[in-house]
Amino acid sequence: VEAFLAPKTLRGKKLLITAGPTFEPIDPVRGITNHSSGKMGFAIARAAAEAGAEVTLVAGPVHLPTPRGVQRIDVQSAQQMHDAVLPLAAHQHAFIATAAVADWRPAQAHEHKLKKAEGGATAPTIAMAENPDILAAVAGLPRPPYCVGFAAESEKLAEHADAKRRRKGIPLIVANLGPATFGRDDNALLLIDAQGRRELPEAGGRADKLTLARELIKELSQRLR
Ligand code: CTP
Ligand code: CA
Repeated sequence: VEAFLAPKTLRGKKLLITAGPTFEPIDPVRGITNHSSGKMGFAIARAAAEAGAEVTLVAGPVHLPTPRGVQRIDVQSAQQMHDAVLPLAAHQHAFIATAAVADWRPAQAHEHKLKKAEGGATAPTIAMAENPDILAAVAGLPRPPYCVGFAAESEKLAEHADAKRRRKGIPLIVANLGPATFGRDDNALLLIDAQGRRELPEAGGRADKLTLARELIKELSQRLR
């Protein structure tokens, strides 16, 4: 009912959203990932579609149903997420990066399963390489969409998040205390732009992620007008 009644504040707007963790392979049976559930990103995709936007959701490995009316692209690694996002990004009105992208990947994924050596020899050392920064790459396009970053920080929330916003050259960052929020159904958000800060929910405390997503989409609609 809420979906049907939602004001179509994003009609005619194209939104690209990343969500979930990434999975960086070590060998055919192992890899490095994180505890992002994807719930916040999927809630935002749903809220944006309810508001009438044309939504593309690039998702890392998560177990969540695709929100109604949303075009979903599944990926595994950060590089795959980057390669899915970049060709689409220039055609969007907004880009919302909620994914918990792995900062590093094993420099090479082994073709065959790593085996323990005979006689219990030493444990392998995994050399790492840096992944591309998807959000910074989109923000650096000649005519970038309106870019919204997410920052989960364990301390000095506002300071660290605003430094990140400026470093990536994006107009808006959404800060939350992580990793305490991973997998939960509720959250508390702090929106930070060059002008100042705004808390969601407005009254303080916590709210479920779909409620927060709808508030964020309301805010974004105003910024895109
Ligand atoms: N992000 C991205 N690609 C990456 C890393 C991060 O698109 N390779 C995006 C995230 O989706 C998020 C924002 O950048 O919207 C901030 O991510 P975060 O991990 O907090 O920032 P980093 O720049 O990676 O800094 P650090 O992890 O060292 O705090
Ligand atoms: Ca990071």
